[in-house]
Amino acid sequence: MDQLFSLQGRVALVTGASSGLGQHFAHVLHAAGATVVLAARRLDRVEAEAKRLGERARAIAIDVSHEASILFTFETLAASGVLCDIIVNNAGISGSSLLLQMETTEWDDVIRVNLRAPFLVAREAARRLVAANKPGSIVNIASILGLRVSPALAPYMASKAGLIHLTRSMAFEFARYGIRVNALCPGYFETEINSDFLKSEYAQAALKRVPQRRIGDLRDLDGPLLLLASDAGAFMTGEALVVDGGQSINAV
Ligand SMILES: NC(=O)c1ccc[n+]([C@@H]2O[C@H](COP(=O)([O-])OP(=O)(O)OC[C@H]3O[C@@H](n4cnc5c(N)ncnc54)[C@H](OP(=O)(O)O)[C@@H]3O)[C@@H](O)[C@H]2O)c1
Repeated sequence: MDQLFSLQGRVALVTGASSGLGQHFAHVLHAAGATVVLAARRLDRVEAEAKRLGERARAIAIDVSHEASILFTFETLAASGVLCDIIVNNAGISGSSLLLQMETTEWDDVIRVNLRAPFLVAREAARRLVAANKPGSIVNIASILGLRVSPALAPYMASKAGLIHLTRSMAFEFARYGIRVNALCPGYFETEINSDFLKSEYAQAALKRVPQRRIGDLRDLDGPLLLLASDAGAFMTGEALVVDGGQSINAV
């Protein structure tokens, strides 16, 4: 059974690996046998984490809001013979304004990081896999907020809804090359992105309506991530896998 989820011989790129889910994902993929590339803007953090992981881990700087930075990252990896066949498009930001008060820059920033960047990263990764005639797996980190609504997060929700549908488009177009594309849709997991929000009255009330009556533990994502990344999910593509303790199916 271990063999089914094994990532031995695979190389995984995780964007936004300097904190929260991305840092955790890097550990999970590494523990399953993959070589991992931890990428984020805060190079000191990803370097420290790669050092902690030891063999089969390296860190690289990336700013996914700039196409040139994404291309440079892939070129740097290729120059040292690294071809990534697992991509975890995890880097993300949230925003916090109601639409009537929102500056256009907030909209642009969120869409740029959460929707445009996963497209650019996936396209570059897929181009390189196709050229090398190799299969791969792309996991886009969406959110239950791509399926349901919440106040003051319109661009975030639009980006995640867009990412779920982009996942389907990419899955459709890349299937012929042996590249699977799926989305993971987490509920609430406490990280830097939402620690203030989770203390709010609104969040506390929302959490009481989660059928399992708790927020997620990062380990709750391990199985779903490995399912999508490994050959255990060989016949899954275009899927949006919800991991939320039932939050998105709560009673209306
Ligand atoms: N936590 C949750 O409850 C939850 C639920 C559903 C979905 N998600 C999604 O999970 C993903 C990770 O979020 P998180 O909760 O782990 O939050 P987090 O701790 O704030 O992590 C966000 C990561 O994104 C990176 N990032 C942001 N802008 C970037 C850029 N321009 N270029 C490169 N990296 C960038 C940050 O690294 P640097 O600042 O070092 O660049 C950081 O590592 C996001 O896509 C988020 O939407 C989270």
